[in-house]
Amino acid sequence: MTRTVETKPFSDQKPGTSGLRKKVPVFQQEHYAENFIQSVFDSLEGFQGQTLVIGGDGRYFNREVIQTAIAMAAGNGFGRVIVGQGGILSTPAASHIIRKYKAFGGLILSASHNPGGPHEDFGIKYNAGNGGPAPEKLTDAIFERSKTISRFLIADIGLVDLDRLGFVDAGGMEVEVVDPVADYAELMETLFDFDAIRTMFKGGFRMAFDAMHAVTGPYAKEILEKRLGAPAGTARNFVPLPDFGGHHPDPNLVHAKALYDEMMGDDAPDFGAASDGDGDRNLVIGRSIFITPSDSLAMLAANAHLAPGYKAGLKGIARSMPTSGAADRVAEKLGIGMYETPTGWKFFGNLLDAGMATICGEESAGTGSDHVREKDGLWAVLLWLNILAMRGESAREIATKHWATYGRNYYSRHDYEEVETEAANRLMTELRGRLAALPGTAVRGMKIAAADDFAYHDPVDGSVSKNQGIRVMFEGGSRAVFRLSGTGTSGATLRLYVERYEPDPAHHDLDTQEALSELIAAADDIAGIRRHTGREKPSVIT
Ligand code: G6P
Ligand code: ZN
Repeated sequence: MTRTVETKPFSDQKPGTSGLRKKVPVFQQEHYAENFIQSVFDSLEGFQGQTLVIGGDGRYFNREVIQTAIAMAAGNGFGRVIVGQGGILSTPAASHIIRKYKAFGGLILSASHNPGGPHEDFGIKYNAGNGGPAPEKLTDAIFERSKTISRFLIADIGLVDLDRLGFVDAGGMEVEVVDPVADYAELMETLFDFDAIRTMFKGGFRMAFDAMHAVTGPYAKEILEKRLGAPAGTARNFVPLPDFGGHHPDPNLVHAKALYDEMMGDDAPDFGAASDGDGDRNLVIGRSIFITPSDSLAMLAANAHLAPGYKAGLKGIARSMPTSGAADRVAEKLGIGMYETPTGWKFFGNLLDAGMATICGEESAGTGSDHVREKDGLWAVLLWLNILAMRGESAREIATKHWATYGRNYYSRHDYEEVETEAANRLMTELRGRLAALPGTAVRGMKIAAADDFAYHDPVDGSVSKNQGIRVMFEGGSRAVFRLSGTGTSGATLRLYVERYEPDPAHHDLDTQEALSELIAAADDIAGIRRHTGREKPSVIT
């Protein structure tokens, strides 16, 4: 029943920040997905007879690749596959299911917040038995394997009915089609005070959750509306569509602008939130206040003890390097560890597994905790709701008080998308070459205290990850970070992250872009963004 199929390697199957992402037509090339999946399996050991979890965000091409992955799991000797009904599993739900059922690992089919459709993006990512994204060592091995692969194994099992819950025999391997929401919703009930949140909704609390026609729709319907009693209509755009309704399922101020505008308007609900294609990102907007992901991490960490799952306190906080230092001040006050990792959720895995950190976050709209090994959009929203319910204050009040206590880290990210790869590389190389000469010099009256190319020394396994982004630190705590995105699928995306610390509450009400304008201009002086990219302004400001 199992066939060995000859194949030729592709040279471009290098996993990026979060798995292999390419345009759908690239994935549709003969054997492209098969090669990658086989390269994953060939890089693993000991999965014979074990369980593999498979699910995706429902985007175009999801079902086809899921069928292939199931047949290949059977062909390679897995004992069991757990797949979400309709091929659906949000990334955090997949992480949870891997952990809960002690699976060997999982394949998550998604390109996260990137658009979907016949000419848009698709992706495959492998998560290990701890529920987290494969570590670099493994993704490197997968890439190496993909360059020499000459065959893949696939069982002739026909199509599995992905829509019917229950067990199917697939050529000796058991396939279980599971409700994608149930286990996850149950986990959330153990972490948060659902009674308190329910009471808040009963009292007239209004919320808007934009699922962006992506995977969190069914999760939000079940948890917010059914279990927490939020009024029908709280979850919007809740039907997952293969092309996300033609939109970018990216919960930022550009792609979730309608929600933002509503939250800034006169009749704004009390709380607004959105999640991305695969459900791991979150956007949080209070009435007339946008909470940056960096601030959200800090505020959630400072208040997490109000939720039952975190009442014992936090073991530590971790954030990616470009994320603002707001959370550092919370860690300092709580007297707990603070860890600065490279961009990419996979770097948090060791800290979480080792019990060194409880809560993690990234500027890229990711927040999560040790309940799974992925960032988790709805989790962040529920923790916010729990905190709002316990404090009985608005998000704006909570933010204002937080800044008064800790000071405010003004923060913004400027993205230059689809820049010519060569120009972007040139900018980074040139900047790298000048790093040693920068400290001690001044730009626009601001003195540079230090500059480096961030390298991470993992305190758990001792591994070192170099070239993770260029940091220019100014005296007084301001900072500019330059980094090339690892998740784009065409050209290069240059990210400029700027941050300024303001301790004085009298200056906590400034417009963010204005508060940062000098710093932004200085960053351009230093790196020559306009000169290299030919762009007058960023494509996206968040
Ligand atoms: C994915 C990863 C995140 C990462 C983000 C931004 O969502 O899961 O951990 O922060 O990509 O990556 P990029 O390389 O595009 O800045
Ligand atoms: Zn995502």
